[in-house]
Amino acid sequence: MSSSILLGITGGISAYKIPSLVRLMVKAGMNVQVVMTLSASKFVTPMTLATLSGNPVYCDMWGERDRPSVEHIFLADAARIAIIAPATANFIGKLAHGIADDMLTTVMMAFNKPVLIYPAMNINMYNNPILKENLERLMSLGYQVMAPEKGDLACGWVGEGRMPEPEAIFLEVKRRLAPRDMDGLRVLVTAGPTEEPLDPVRFLTNRSSGKMGVAIAKRALQRGAKVCLVSGPLKVSVPVGVDHIKVRTALEMMEKVLELFHESDMVFKAAAVADFRPEFTCREKIKKGDLDPTVNLICNPDILATLGSKKWPDQVLVGFAAETTDPIENARVKLKKKNVDILVLNDVTQPGAGFDCDTNVVRLLFRNGDEEQLSLMSKEDVADKIISRAIEMRRHSRER
Ligand code: PMT
Repeated sequence: MSSSILLGITGGISAYKIPSLVRLMVKAGMNVQVVMTLSASKFVTPMTLATLSGNPVYCDMWGERDRPSVEHIFLADAARIAIIAPATANFIGKLAHGIADDMLTTVMMAFNKPVLIYPAMNINMYNNPILKENLERLMSLGYQVMAPEKGDLACGWVGEGRMPEPEAIFLEVKRRLAPRDMDGLRVLVTAGPTEEPLDPVRFLTNRSSGKMGVAIAKRALQRGAKVCLVSGPLKVSVPVGVDHIKVRTALEMMEKVLELFHESDMVFKAAAVADFRPEFTCREKIKKGDLDPTVNLICNPDILATLGSKKWPDQVLVGFAAETTDPIENARVKLKKKNVDILVLNDVTQPGAGFDCDTNVVRLLFRNGDEEQLSLMSKEDVADKIISRAIEMRRHSRER
């Protein structure tokens, strides 16, 4: 079933960003029902929002209607969550005091499910004690008031009062709607490459962007887990709420991961850890002609195999394998040798799979010998599948 969102828009300049939010939600399969105030319709047209959402937009109480039902009750009953963005001082004041004098405030009077409110206004309006009191009143009544961001405001002032970007609002809504099947679980994720220094300016590394590991961290967080991410340098940002520990080398990653392993229920090792490091790191920049340019490499410890040798029975350990030749055979060997529960194999020679892209094509190999081939999908969807299998595996091992 698609998720029904009631999107309330009130008359602030940041309403101009709302069509992008509607697009993101609709693309993700959400059914968006827009209700806007007449003031909001001066900033963004109902026709734009109706076209993007694919639903009629409600601005006032008295228009011609297709349905014979009591419209404001129908709208309130149909949605799982309401988002008010942007929320003006006027709307906040009315909601806090039970005033229902237009379609949006009337729908909100009948709405008894989670409501996220995104105040957005000039910094002095935001700091006005009357507004603060109204927001506190709403919070005490169970409304979720989302803090505005700091930055340049449309009025020319700089400070608190900006509405977060549509992408951030979308992620928050997605997080609230996600199944909370990881509540209480502690998850450790590794992501990105490691860097193995040759001298202060040069290092050995690989093409990992961190996207796969960050997608796992993000989805686990959205599903209710407490997530710790240990990563090398990333090309993507880490979602707010994830505890992020930055490392550089394989040895640093090993140290942090071992520290956290015993307190983790699930471990996802998506990092592309360097198998080798230079035997010596020069303290000064190596100059042309200084040295014989041969670099001696020595082996890094295998973090995943170390965890495999230490794991307790109902801890779920998920490893990855990036292969270019005989992928399935090599992955089967890694699954056994490293004592992991699930091995996620990416055949990095396939288009849309592996390093630095937004999609992946993976095969899951399970401890009991089962295998599951997944088709090309976004890294977030791959993350969801892997997490779901890890949860099933944990459930089975605890039932035994
Ligand atoms: O970061 P992205 O750009 O999104 O790309 C994603 C990815 C391709 C990096 C990811 O999906 C992936 O496959 N990660 C593992 C890559 C890798 O190092 O594969 P491997 O076959 O060399 O290692 C197998 C497993 O052992 C991995 O879980 C790795 O974390 C682990 N390992 C490897 C070497 C080592 N010294 N210690 C380890 O723990």
